[in-house]
Amino acid sequence: MKALVLTPATKDVSVQELPIPQPRDGEVLIRVHAVALNPVDAIYAVHPIAEQDQRIIGTDFAGIITSVGPNLESLSDLRTKIGTRVAGFHQGACSTNDRPGAFAEYITAPYDLLWSVPDSMSLEAASAVSMCGLTAAQGVFSRLGLPCPFDGQVNSSVGTANDVTNVLIYSASTSLGLYAAQLVQLSARASGRKIRLIGAASASKHDFLRKAPYNYDVLVDYRDPNWVEKVKEATEGKGIDRAVDSISEGESVYSVNNTLNDNAKMAVFRGPKGGQYDPSELRVKPIYGAVWEGLGHEIGYNGAIIAANPDARVFATKFFNFLSTAAADGKVKLEPNPLRLMPGGLERIVPDGFELLGSGMVSKRSDTSRNEDYMRPISGEKMVYKILGE
Ligand SMILES: NC(=O)c1ccc[n+]([C@@H]2O[C@H](COP(=O)([O-])OP(=O)(O)OC[C@H]3O[C@@H](n4cnc5c(N)ncnc54)[C@H](OP(=O)(O)O)[C@@H]3O)[C@@H](O)[C@H]2O)c1
Repeated sequence: MKALVLTPATKDVSVQELPIPQPRDGEVLIRVHAVALNPVDAIYAVHPIAEQDQRIIGTDFAGIITSVGPNLESLSDLRTKIGTRVAGFHQGACSTNDRPGAFAEYITAPYDLLWSVPDSMSLEAASAVSMCGLTAAQGVFSRLGLPCPFDGQVNSSVGTANDVTNVLIYSASTSLGLYAAQLVQLSARASGRKIRLIGAASASKHDFLRKAPYNYDVLVDYRDPNWVEKVKEATEGKGIDRAVDSISEGESVYSVNNTLNDNAKMAVFRGPKGGQYDPSELRVKPIYGAVWEGLGHEIGYNGAIIAANPDARVFATKFFNFLSTAAADGKVKLEPNPLRLMPGGLERIVPDGFELLGSGMVSKRSDTSRNEDYMRPISGEKMVYKILGE
């Protein structure tokens, strides 16, 4: 099979021929049809932390099960059946541990960390959901404690049933922010809680974000020097109760912190080093977490060890079960990000996709000098590559 392989010692990334992996206990083999790009795919290819000679890179994938590992035949779960359309995420080269990556024609994965893709959704669309969808779910439910529609907790510690909970999503047009907003709305519907959803995004995205499935109540422009004050005014002086900082880079962390009331919680998605902020200067301590915890393994990441977290793995399996079925109205539970279907396959990911993502901060991405329409800056979209036509 073909795979996109990083050689950490030389920082070379190239398409190589490798043997098709064999599924082990609890795993299935998947023919990959589409992969989606995330900023970490590029960051850890350009600045490798992997310690092996070679690593397959890439996180998000969707495809079709072509064989199953030992001891799975007796299960009735759809995700153990040949022919099922599934999606999930791998760690790629984003760790020192030897973990699989998604950018390959075939991959193996534990069946319970997959979701079966509803018929109404294409595999390209499904490839865009798993990693940022789970990251957003961990932030909104595990860290901020909003009532969770799939974890048996429709109650929460936030206010009382009659209070309005003010929730801010900063950088609402990121992939992460688009999923976080949907999960906040699902939380409000499942729990009956009154949530005022406030977003900070480019003005050009406000009309899009006011509509379903995001349904923002209030939007401010993050380029407006007075946006923090405008957010506070929208809360009628109470301040934000729960905040998602989808960028978590320096200035955004300090500004979002300034919108919070004293009992608030704030979820961040980059740690102090990568995000370049100092937690000791923040009145409300932000809560950081890495999506990789959902895999349930110990992870060597950015000079630290993230301990194996069995609870995070259970949460991930519940989230993926939740995605596996359609909602009562027949629609998918979580709308995928708008897609930018990129031309070419594995061989175009580095020269096009990674060029657009850059390898530094999301807020410091510079425009490329390329003229092709698909090389315009990423805004409220997910880049997807077809690996095999459906
Ligand atoms: N902790 C974890 O496990 C985890 C998991 C996933 C992602 N992340 C991190 O989360 C961040 C977001 O990832 P993503 O994939 O969602 O990003 P993305 O979709 O690629 O982000 C692009 C968006 O960033 C917005 N943006 C750029 N500069 C901004 C600024 N100064 N203020 C507000 N918004 C700005 C742009 O908005 P406009 O076009 O409207 O300007 C654009 O829509 C990344 O740093 C990523 O590494 C962490």
